[in-house]
Amino acid sequence: MKVLSVFGTRPEAVKMCPLVLELARRPGVESEVCLTSQHRELLCGVTDLFGVKADYDLDVMRSRQSLSDIFCGVLRGMEDVLRSSRPDVVLVHGDTSTSCAAALAAFYAKIPVGHVEAGLRTYRRYFPFPEEMNRRLTADLADYHFAPTARGAQNLRAEGITENIYVTGNTGLDALRTTVRPGYVFSEGALRDSALFSGRTVLLTAHRRENIPDGIASICRAAKRLCAAYPDLRIVYPVHPNPAVREIVLPLLEKVPGVTLTEPLDTLDMHNLLARCTLVLTDSGGLQEEGPALHVPVLVLRGETERPEAVEAGGVRLAGTSENGIFRAAARLLDNESERAAMACAVSPYGDGHASERIADILAARFAAGEAAG
Ligand code: UD1
Repeated sequence: MKVLSVFGTRPEAVKMCPLVLELARRPGVESEVCLTSQHRELLCGVTDLFGVKADYDLDVMRSRQSLSDIFCGVLRGMEDVLRSSRPDVVLVHGDTSTSCAAALAAFYAKIPVGHVEAGLRTYRRYFPFPEEMNRRLTADLADYHFAPTARGAQNLRAEGITENIYVTGNTGLDALRTTVRPGYVFSEGALRDSALFSGRTVLLTAHRRENIPDGIASICRAAKRLCAAYPDLRIVYPVHPNPAVREIVLPLLEKVPGVTLTEPLDTLDMHNLLARCTLVLTDSGGLQEEGPALHVPVLVLRGETERPEAVEAGGVRLAGTSENGIFRAAARLLDNESERAAMACAVSPYGDGHASERIADILAARFAAGEAAG
């Protein structure tokens, strides 16, 4: 069985590399990787960390390019890659433009598609944008649906997908099993400052398109108010390289006492920082899974989430994007340690860190059954 895994942004890489390594370990599986490089700087560090080598690289990243530019670059580039690789199955992840375009390219080549992290939904087409639509379209294009939770599987069934849905857990938790280490020494210089961890440390990330510009500006103002109200607080904000994000964040937070802005962190630094935090404020998806797995409460800086499981389990709360709403939600936890600790104790709904093994087992069994039948 030849499997071609396609990914291009950092979060996809963190969640696909454990699966790529698992596939490579299996006898009888030929595992190839195509990077689209929708992101460049962010991506390399992750593949290096996991020791994953690219067989193909579409090199689509350009500064400030449009969504159509990314989509067309991936769709066109995949045509040659599929012609040369001839895989039995193409694996894509989640909801990026890379995933959706690669799934469409595989469909055009009549190659089966496996969708990892399938079935997440907000049912609001512009939230998150364009990810909600990317993941719905990818579900229609996919032949195998690897849902992290029963909720994801249920969403797919409600949309009329009846076959080949598997609940596997989230492969992001597989990555955490190898990255979080006691006594870890950070590679980012700013994180080696012990003062950062002498009081309470809050991790902040915000980059979503639908939060640019207003949401991100409100988030920054709330961060500033939190530092003024809680002098022991240290907020660490690794700023996304997107120039549209940096233009908002740097002027608002660069010189604020208590706020440490860093360049994007590599995966080891990020996971180990998260493990040492009191609280996370984020509009990202992956941190909503990683926080509960590491018993760190998460406030989501959005009005909705496609990951309601952890909200229901009690480890995650929606804080919205208004300055007051964010300030109040964070202050409530900073003022009330027992409430914060109760969130930290919630059980993670995203699996046991062995999702990649399940996905590899399912693919191998399906392929063996197909070979036997054919
Ligand atoms: C993309 C994904 C989003 C994911 C996010 C993680 C889509 C539609 N969105 O959003 O789901 O949460 O990645 O980061 O696929 N840039 C660099 N260097 C990098 C990465 C980005 O300079 O390593 C800059 C470029 O100017 C690029 C811009 O960031 O044009 C935006 O990147 P893009 O991939 O279009 O969107 P993201 O907001 O990163």
